[in-house]
Amino acid sequence: MLNQTYLQMLNQKSVIRTLNEYGAQRAKEIGYQNVFDYSLGNPSVPTHPAFTQEMIRLLQEEDPVALHGYSPTLGIPSVRQAVAESLSRRFGLPYTADGIFMTSGAAGALAHALRAVTQPGDELIVFAPFFSEYSAYAQGAGLTLKVVPADTKSFQIPFDKLEEMLTDKVTALLINTPNNPSGAVYSAETLTRLAELLRKKSAELGRPLFLISDEPYREILFHGAQQPYPAAFYEYTLVCYSFSKSLSLPGERIGYVAVAPRFEGWEKIVPMCGQISRGTGHNCPSSIIQLAVSKVLELTSDLSVYETNADILCRELSGLGFEICRPQGTFYIFPRALEEDAVRFCEKAKEFDLLLVPSDGFGVPGHFRAAYCIDTEKVERSLEAFKKLADCYR
Ligand SMILES: Cc1ncc(COP(=O)(O)O)c(C=O)c1O
Repeated sequence: MLNQTYLQMLNQKSVIRTLNEYGAQRAKEIGYQNVFDYSLGNPSVPTHPAFTQEMIRLLQEEDPVALHGYSPTLGIPSVRQAVAESLSRRFGLPYTADGIFMTSGAAGALAHALRAVTQPGDELIVFAPFFSEYSAYAQGAGLTLKVVPADTKSFQIPFDKLEEMLTDKVTALLINTPNNPSGAVYSAETLTRLAELLRKKSAELGRPLFLISDEPYREILFHGAQQPYPAAFYEYTLVCYSFSKSLSLPGERIGYVAVAPRFEGWEKIVPMCGQISRGTGHNCPSSIIQLAVSKVLELTSDLSVYETNADILCRELSGLGFEICRPQGTFYIFPRALEEDAVRFCEKAKEFDLLLVPSDGFGVPGHFRAAYCIDTEKVERSLEAFKKLADCYR
């Protein structure tokens, strides 16, 4: 008999992927340039040339048997060491290679981090709006997702609501800053209050609450905005990072879990991730990609187009009457829809070949997400479609 859980998931396919597939189909009919596809968070700029150069060098100069061989379970030691040194230098925490586990992107990192600090049946707190795949990640780890409702004015944490939801079934909280889909950045004040609350609650519970910090957009910040480093505020933090967005490498599936030596038992987390891998079939990211990223840890693609696009969309959509909490980073904007039913609103947008993602899957009603990792020229041409859409609601 087929597995019923996964069979049922076939009816809950990702709205984003479905919309993107629709866009590809529509592009065949009317031409790619005429479809304003704001659905998928797929970077639109090339990786840094230094990454490409390093790949070429590795292929030309290194022993192919070693280069294409199995990576050790926890990642290549020199790569883990380089990641630890880079994190320590940039964020001031005493990371060592023992606290670094190399993964297949942030998705792989989250799969391991979640399993390492929870038991099936536990509650996992997430904050709306949240990356819609968190539902599947939680389900895969046997966790119940508990969603803290959004403060749609600031997209910071509504602490009164969080406090009510910190039951004794909660073992971990998952944050994502800069945030997909809102583009909001948690402030130092928010992270300080969060750490204080978690310390207080952990003391009451007699066990630590774990914070999992999902950080694929760490470097994508606009107009000098800074992202305070969540793990610096709270000891029991597992950082989940990905090179998918900062270095435009989503297809290479590379990231890591990082644990700083700041709590008792920290040194067990990474070896446990290795054991988790055995069951999930993760078995390490590609050796050559690990080696190549280890040489460009502090570089990014040229990310400036995202800031340019954010500025255009904020200015023009505000002018059309959209209510927007200005994104401070990422390549998403999350305005209020012009009718309560976001699904209906996004269906209406399709009439103008404008592909927007309704907010319901992100845990917030009445908004939409536009992923502006597309050419600026296309953003500019899409404004007419946004205007026609807004005109429908006048
Ligand atoms: C918030 C967030 N977390 C995790 C992921 C998964 O990233 P990766 O491609 O590195 O697995 C994404 C991808 O879009 C994301 O937006």
